[in-house]
Amino acid sequence: MNLEGKRILIIITGGIAAYKMNTAVRGFIKEGAEVKVILTPAAKDFVTPLTLSVLSRNEVLWDLSSSSGTWNNHVELALWSDAILVAPCTANTLSKMVHGACDNLAMAVYMSAKCPVFIAPAMDLDMYRHPSTRQNIQRAQDFGHILIPAEEGELASGLHGEGRMAEPEHLIETVRQYFESKDFIKNMAGKKVLITAGPTYEAIDPVRFIGNHSSGKMGFALAEEAAKRGADVILISGPSHEKIKGNHIQLIRVTSAKEMFQEVFRYFSGIDMAIASAAVADYAPKEVAAEKIKKDGDSMTIELVKNPDILKTMGEQKKKQFLIGFALETQNEEAHAKEKLHRKNLDMIVLNSLRDSGAGFQTDTNRIRIFTESQEKEFPIKPKSAVAADILDFAVAQMAK
Ligand code: C5P
Repeated sequence: MNLEGKRILIIITGGIAAYKMNTAVRGFIKEGAEVKVILTPAAKDFVTPLTLSVLSRNEVLWDLSSSSGTWNNHVELALWSDAILVAPCTANTLSKMVHGACDNLAMAVYMSAKCPVFIAPAMDLDMYRHPSTRQNIQRAQDFGHILIPAEEGELASGLHGEGRMAEPEHLIETVRQYFESKDFIKNMAGKKVLITAGPTYEAIDPVRFIGNHSSGKMGFALAEEAAKRGADVILISGPSHEKIKGNHIQLIRVTSAKEMFQEVFRYFSGIDMAIASAAVADYAPKEVAAEKIKKDGDSMTIELVKNPDILKTMGEQKKKQFLIGFALETQNEEAHAKEKLHRKNLDMIVLNSLRDSGAGFQTDTNRIRIFTESQEKEFPIKPKSAVAADILDFAVAQMAK
């Protein structure tokens, strides 16, 4: 009974593989899960609601309103779910999912969901191979959805190839493993987390700016990890090529330190945790030239003035907020990090040294040390997603003290 108490919402769409879902529903129940089934209108031609209702021990729904005139609350159904499994997922439903078309109950539930979504496509081999399907699968994965790939074998059309829906045992096993994996720790449920990320660009004139090499990767990885753990995340990022994967992240893009400052303090009073991973420019040009500055003479001088220190101001204003800062140092790393912890009134600081290869800007990996008032911990070099998990594990443990 490995899925004991887990609430699984199964969306069955109109493909021939739908006939396997009676077995899948029964399997989930045997594993101890609570199951609700939603059909797309086309799925009703392939399976009967009555059978699925008996097997799932719940009413099976397909319309936004029932024949009795009651409204099927899609938001409630979405919030009820610990996981949504779309199986079989037809090319049509897959396309609706990635484009946000919302013309039936299944889609309305899917679009209201905050939980992990599993997709088990099933279609004929040419449809499965089609560039639009490949692109839609990729997009769904970019949303953070988990693909249960179609398998190769005999297809309903009589052809042989890739496109068969994964077998029911495989569907159940994938969902079971997900819940079992150490990744799935909902230890930040309901927490409001604000994260700054990326560089800032400080305009000199309409075409030039002062910036730095920060990629934003660490901040985006932290946002994704916090969202995965159930947090509501506000990610305020300077110019970065990174894209958001997964739900529950409100991304606000800014350019300069002053804009970042303004956005941060729009939200600061209502949040539980702030992580300042942005590489904020310390200085900005005093005047921004209205026109492109012309080449004139062998040298030029730009007068710079200090930018607001966003994190330090958070430290001054903090009440209940748990504050995490970053220190990227090139010398006397530990002393500088500890000094910042005090000066900015932080609860925790993450140090990465530019001297470590594989750490710092633009890399996909990082090597960190964490300091609090009374503790320190060193971590080996890891991908930034794993570093994000280490940082949040440490922070959650500190907050619980
Ligand atoms: O003082 P220093 O810039 O080295 O401190 C780094 C930490 O302070 C980082 O967490 C960074 O995001 C934050 N910071 C900030 N606003 C600034 C400068 C730094 O939030 N103007």
